[in-house]
Amino acid sequence: MGNKIVIGNMKMNLTYNEICDYVTKINVDSKQLIICPSSIYIPYFIGHNYKVGIQNVFFKNSGAYTGEISSLQCKSLNIDYAIVGHSERRILFKEDDETINMKIKSVLANNMSVILCVGEHKNEDANQIIKKQLMLALEDISDIENVVIAYEPVWAIGTNEIPTNEVIYDTIKYIKELIYKKFNKNIKVLYGGSINEKNIELLMKISNCDGFLVGGASTKINEFLKIIEVALYG
Ligand code: PGA
Repeated sequence: MGNKIVIGNMKMNLTYNEICDYVTKINVDSKQLIICPSSIYIPYFIGHNYKVGIQNVFFKNSGAYTGEISSLQCKSLNIDYAIVGHSERRILFKEDDETINMKIKSVLANNMSVILCVGEHKNEDANQIIKKQLMLALEDISDIENVVIAYEPVWAIGTNEIPTNEVIYDTIKYIKELIYKKFNKNIKVLYGGSINEKNIELLMKISNCDGFLVGGASTKINEFLKIIEVALYG
């Protein structure tokens, strides 16, 4: 039990004063914890005993790309992870599989790790969608050991709806088998979508799940600390 990976995807939340308070309270000593705040706040999270991730990167290292942030720049700040392929990026910012593939290549080329999000919309065939997303995102990629996959059904994100443990187990198993077939390597697969302090104990029972990607609940420091306690030390 315990010893799972926990990722906090804070999305576009919290103001500067709230972040200052958050930073003083999140003094967790574990490299299994990855905090992904809004990019402008990242420097406040660097240099602690947890890891830091960015919620989005561009696929070029530098140049005239107003508003974008590169993996090269992230690496220079000791940022360890980048989330790629989150459904909010796919849906709201029209990121396609080809762009996701280029972003992953750029992150890996800069010696960072990727958190690749995949998942189906309501009433879609999950395995079919996930297979397509994975194969296109991971085309021509060799260092798969620096990729962590998060299974996030789109219908479970921010909705308080959550698949059964059996469904999550089967989907994670399917993802691990696909990756093993393609790369001959075992990788970590997490679950994400409506995780909170009430359901974390139940989710911990999924034997093949290597950790959790927490969105909304990661912005509430007390609730997130409870989730971390269960997932890392429970
Ligand atoms: P949620 O988001 O925990 O708020 O459902 C998860 C995610 O988007 O990664």
